[in-house]
Amino acid sequence: MNPARLRRFIGDMTSLVGGAWQDNDETATVEVGARLLGELVKNDDWLPEAMAECPPHGYVQNLLWCDPFERFSVVSFVWAPSAKTPVHDHQVWGLVGMLRGSETSQAFARDGKTGELTKGNCSTLAPGDVEILRPSVGDIHQVTNALSDCGSLSIHVYGGNIGAVRRYTFDPATGKENLFVSGYTNKAVPNLWDRSSEVRAAG
Ligand code: FE2
Repeated sequence: MNPARLRRFIGDMTSLVGGAWQDNDETATVEVGARLLGELVKNDDWLPEAMAECPPHGYVQNLLWCDPFERFSVVSFVWAPSAKTPVHDHQVWGLVGMLRGSETSQAFARDGKTGELTKGNCSTLAPGDVEILRPSVGDIHQVTNALSDCGSLSIHVYGGNIGAVRRYTFDPATGKENLFVSGYTNKAVPNLWDRSSEVRAAG
C-alpha cells in the first residue's frame, strides 16, 4: 500500500480549490482536477483494502477524504456485478476516475418545463479513464457496473462534501424528482497520515 499517492493528490486538490475558488473558476478546477485524478488512477497500489471491499449486491460509497472547508471530497465507489445507481444529479462538479473494472455512465437531459428525461451519450470507462460531470452543462446520469461477473471500483471527487449535499434522483419514466442526501457507507475514514515506519526507517 502506497498512501503517499493519495496524500499527494489531496494536497494538489487542496491547492487547486484554494486558488481557483477565488474566482469560482469551475472550468479550470475540473480540467486540472481531471488531470490530477488521471495521475492518481494510473496506479493501483494506494487504496486501503478496507475501502475496496466489494459488497454482495448494490454499491458502497466510502469517504476517503473531505476538505475541512467542504470544498471537495474524495470517495471510493465499489460496485457489485451489474450494480447500478438510480438516475441522479450532483449539484456540484464531479470527477470519476476508473481504478478497477469498468462502468458505464448513461447521460440524460431534462426538459426544464415538463421534467421529461431524454437519453444522451453513454460512455464506458476503463482503468485510468476520467469522466467530468458539470451541473452547468447537465450532469444527470445513471451509472452501471459494466461487468456482470465481477466487481468494479472507481474514485470520485466532488466539489463539496457530497454525502451531505441535497440533490435529486429521477424517475426515468416520468422525470419526477425526489430529494436525497446520500451519506457515506463507511463510519471511519482511513488513517493516511501514520508515516512512522518510513520516518523510523530513515534513521
Ligand atoms: Fe453520479
